[in-house]
Amino acid sequence: MLPPTPDLSRYDDVWRKAEPYMRARKNDVHIPLSFGWAQMLLDHYPEANRDICSLAILLHDIGWYSIDNDTIISEGFRSDNYLQSDVRYLHETEGVRLGTVVLRATGWGDDIITEVCEIIDGHDTRPNPHHLNDRIVRDADKLWRFSVTGIAVASDWFGKTPHQYADHLGTVLTRLETDHGQMLAERELAASRAALMLHVI
Ligand SMILES: [Fe+2]
Ligand SMILES: [Fe+2]
Repeated sequence: MLPPTPDLSRYDDVWRKAEPYMRARKNDVHIPLSFGWAQMLLDHYPEANRDICSLAILLHDIGWYSIDNDTIISEGFRSDNYLQSDVRYLHETEGVRLGTVVLRATGWGDDIITEVCEIIDGHDTRPNPHHLNDRIVRDADKLWRFSVTGIAVASDWFGKTPHQYADHLGTVLTRLETDHGQMLAERELAASRAALMLHVI
């Protein structure tokens, strides 16, 4: 028997409440796409918690809203050691602050809020993920970049051509946390390379 289809409309109020914060840094593209990848991973790993992972991926980058866009790009993407830059830490702490406001306003309980915020805080800067929910959010956060849309958006963030960025994704592949995430990323990158004619340009 097939497992029941998850009711993703239970997160609609959170989407609406978070929407004003999605105008920063193309989060209105990154977040819906990563949310979709998270659902694919959650279908594959039923032992993970769908509410916690779905809410964490939806809200994990909400904190970029508090930072000027030029600073996000210059310090958060194009500086040396950008993954440990001050703005990276700031977007995580602001994500916890704003995410807590959104989750409280939409009726989620303290237990869920604590676990979601534990994932948001450190999602880019923590060296090792804590547990399966954390690992799924990390993979969903990366997987969208392997799509044509992700390469189009993120190559601009990093100041690279699509070909240069696709080559960089080859190293990101080695940092994926789950076997299923790695398989999905490899498949998506091959399709994106073909669609973008990267064997030629
Ligand atoms: Fe982030
Ligand atoms: Fe992200």
